[in-house]
Amino acid sequence: MTEPVLDALFEAAAAVRGRAHAPYSGFAVGAALTDEDGRIHAGCNVENAAYPVGTCAEAGAIAAMIATGGRRIRAILVLADSPAPVTPCGACRQRIREFAGPDTPILSAGPAGIRARFTLEELLPASFGPEHFVHGA
Ligand code: THU
Repeated sequence: MTEPVLDALFEAAAAVRGRAHAPYSGFAVGAALTDEDGRIHAGCNVENAAYPVGTCAEAGAIAAMIATGGRRIRAILVLADSPAPVTPCGACRQRIREFAGPDTPILSAGPAGIRARFTLEELLPASFGPEHFVHGA
């Protein structure tokens, strides 16, 4: 992944994070991913007064990708202002897994820049995915 792509992911995540709806946790998150065509899709967390109904930033970015015709995640960056670098929750690791490979980079950023870098395999080892179905995806 090139520096300009990283910069673009960071900028997209920072911008969308500013639009997060997180009145209950106060924890605004932005996520941005690049698809197989190099297009960037972004999402923020959208909380709800009925707490479990809220959605993560990663889910929003993935929904934006799918809705505009993208089908593969080449890299995804998550941005939050947290003491330790933020990583996708377990459910979002599985959401990413649907559209990414084991080597797909998952980048963790804070407001000042990238803080940590993982692969999907590191965050979700021995995972279940579309290829486990007889008919595939
Ligand atoms: N959250 C995300 O959107 N992405 C993450 O990677 C971690 C957590 C959101 C969910 C909830 O709105 C808030 O952060 C606190 O958990």
